[in-house]
Amino acid sequence: MYCTKKITDDLTWVGANDRRLAMFEGVYSVPDGVSYNSYLLCDEKTVLFDTVDKAVHHRFLENLDAALQGRKLDYLIVHHMEPDHSASVVELTVRYPDLVLICNEKTLTLIKQFDFFDTDSRALIMKEGDTFDTGRHTLHFLMAPMVHWPEVMVTYDASDKILFSADAFGCFGALNGALFADEVDFARDYMDEARRYYTNIVGKYGNQVEALLDKASALDIEMLCPLHGFVWRKNIGDFISKYAHWSSYAPEEKGVMIAYASVYGNTENAAEILSCRLREKGVKSVMYDVSVTPASYIISAAFRWSHIVIASTTYNAGIFVSMEALISDLVEHNIQNRTVAIIENGSWAPTSGELIREKLKECKNITFLEKTISLMSSLKAEQLADVEEMAEAIAASEPGLAPQRLAKPAAAQGQQAAQEAAPPPESIDPTTAFKFSYGLFVLTARDGDKDNGCIINTAIQITEKPFRISIAVNKANFTCDMIIKTGEFNVSILAESAQFKAFQQFGFQSGRTADKFDGCGYDTRAANGIMYVPENTTGIISGKVKDAYDYGTHMLFIADVTQAFVLSDEMSVTYQYYFAHIKPKPPAQKEKKAGYVCRICGYVHEGDELPDDFICPLCKHGVEDFERL
Ligand code: FEO
Repeated sequence: MYCTKKITDDLTWVGANDRRLAMFEGVYSVPDGVSYNSYLLCDEKTVLFDTVDKAVHHRFLENLDAALQGRKLDYLIVHHMEPDHSASVVELTVRYPDLVLICNEKTLTLIKQFDFFDTDSRALIMKEGDTFDTGRHTLHFLMAPMVHWPEVMVTYDASDKILFSADAFGCFGALNGALFADEVDFARDYMDEARRYYTNIVGKYGNQVEALLDKASALDIEMLCPLHGFVWRKNIGDFISKYAHWSSYAPEEKGVMIAYASVYGNTENAAEILSCRLREKGVKSVMYDVSVTPASYIISAAFRWSHIVIASTTYNAGIFVSMEALISDLVEHNIQNRTVAIIENGSWAPTSGELIREKLKECKNITFLEKTISLMSSLKAEQLADVEEMAEAIAASEPGLAPQRLAKPAAAQGQQAAQEAAPPPESIDPTTAFKFSYGLFVLTARDGDKDNGCIINTAIQITEKPFRISIAVNKANFTCDMIIKTGEFNVSILAESAQFKAFQQFGFQSGRTADKFDGCGYDTRAANGIMYVPENTTGIISGKVKDAYDYGTHMLFIADVTQAFVLSDEMSVTYQYYFAHIKPKPPAQKEKKAGYVCRICGYVHEGDELPDDFICPLCKHGVEDFERL
């Protein structure tokens, strides 16, 4: 039975999924399957955009037949002649004898090569910028050579603002009933596979992808229809930005990808110890055994992370076989702009390190850490210092790579503490800071089963593309510790309707000793699994920490936004509004009570004693900013 999906009134997906394929193109494992997309436009003329792989040919023909609803197929646009999209071309010319193929000269050559039949008499040849009217739609043809083969072209339907993008903007994975990227949590569930698809299929051709992106930037695109994966109709710019990033070979994240080849576990041991030392310095690291993990995953990781460590034993006086293959793959995929460190091993003549270095020198802009760690069979106790040194050199090689180890040397810390404790000079009135139009937010995090949250007043958008924000959090807050550990958080933007009890709930107690969500009556979580506040809030923003900076009392987190949604049209609360309308006014006091008042925000702590470690629950300033009532 046919299985089609409607995209617009006159455009239908007639492709098919394959979950039995073990190796895509004979080399890339696809554990979650793959889709072969084909699209039928039913206008005054009927036009099919590409066909499918032979494995799903019969389902595709059934789909096409159903979508045509008794009409004949007039035109077939062949964007790409790779057989996973062209296996049904010959069959269609048999079924529809008058079928006209729309393609370019290079495509025509390839059709003859693959299918041994002469299409000259039925081919309509397009060149860059040519157009074709189907009735209501005008199709524009743009050449996209080497994305992924030389004959590739894409089509822009100017009427519905759709770009049929061939292999570009594709993704591994069967569609599983969805068709649009916004029907799934793409960032969480599919971005890794989109990266693996991009880097392995067209990673080598960054310049050509950039040329296509340049052409696309001149178009008003409302939908992307690729040959694999989901159709994009929302947040298209975000995905195009990913392509712009990947095609530039700039690292996507700061961190270290360790790939190791180890025959008896000793090279792995050294790599593992290095990974531990890196983590202790706050550096993210991932590890792959190149004899176990398919190369396509490691290539993808190499494109993702800023630093690469290659650890390999020596084999037949060369590089170990699986590592040699990986290194060749990395070079062939044009990896560049990375910092690389090397660990070699060998029981009588370790040579792999120099050989790896020589091969990777073929890549552009690779910075090698000077010292290679050389093992004779296994890491010795006296070499632990070398591993520590390598971890230290990696951590120091780029600002922000080790965000959690920003604590300053003891002397500098003492200096800073003295500066912070000293009263501000007369030229600085600290209350001027209240003239900033701060908002108020509940910042939530989750570590294991523990949910927690606190009040913050500094959350701002830094950039729109990518959507990136910063938050500042007092280090005394337990939520700050949780974010340092997990790297994720939600910001619930409080509305003017927020009640004082919300500030008491999240601001006047510590998550170290209290469950701040106890009795809250809701269990609302964003896609990252972290709680957010659903009431008296105007919007929710989920962040994934990209960088973190230690500024003495506070941590400044820079985060990529992974989810954002609006909850109400109410006004978001400002700091001033809070003081004017939400914070209860102290009752007129007949007699002066004993206590301390915060010079910064006016918070009053009642009692004779003010503990040395007291932190103002509102503005988070310490005892040095309190004075007796
Ligand atoms: Fe999906 Fe380059 O073919």
